[in-house]
Amino acid sequence: MENENIILIGFMGVGKGTVARALVKNSDYFAVDTDDLIESLENKKIKKIFEESGEPYFRSLEKKCALWCEKNITGSIISTGGGFYKQENIKKIGKIIYLQSTFEKIIEGIKNSPNAKKKLKKRPLLNDLEEAKKIYNQRIKEYESVADIIINVEDWDEKKAVSNIFDALSN
Ligand code: S3P
Repeated sequence: MENENIILIGFMGVGKGTVARALVKNSDYFAVDTDDLIESLENKKIKKIFEESGEPYFRSLEKKCALWCEKNITGSIISTGGGFYKQENIKKIGKIIYLQSTFEKIIEGIKNSPNAKKKLKKRPLLNDLEEAKKIYNQRIKEYESVADIIINVEDWDEKKAVSNIFDALSN
């Protein structure tokens, strides 16, 4: 099982990175994050890439990253940017786990976190919460349909999320 990658998808701020870090602590997997890969490829923060080159350019980097992941990554938990699920080859990269929560809970979670300002600031698509809600509504069905496994993280219990994921993977 551990040669196959696990890909975490879901809306911005749902906790993909946090869950990925918790999963690697409890396994032999390695953690990789697609936004981190893109930032190191460009030597720029995501926010800066959006500001200087626009969203379509960022999406082209996501595509490049997805092709690279398919060829080069094994045995890893891959946390992804909220729009990465649209990559055509995503199913070839690994098993897809969708971390599901409501828009309200996600925003509440971000706002209650100790570094709330930073979390909001680094995400250009969360600048306008009304627009963000529209994106959320457009995407929920798509997240569900691309996922192999759906894990509800609304109550935000990290331990429970990790054990639910390992249970689902062993079934
Ligand atoms: C995006 C989500 C972000 C980042 C970029 C675009 C999206 O990642 O990839 O700002 O389209 O949902 P997080 O999901 O980690 O916030």
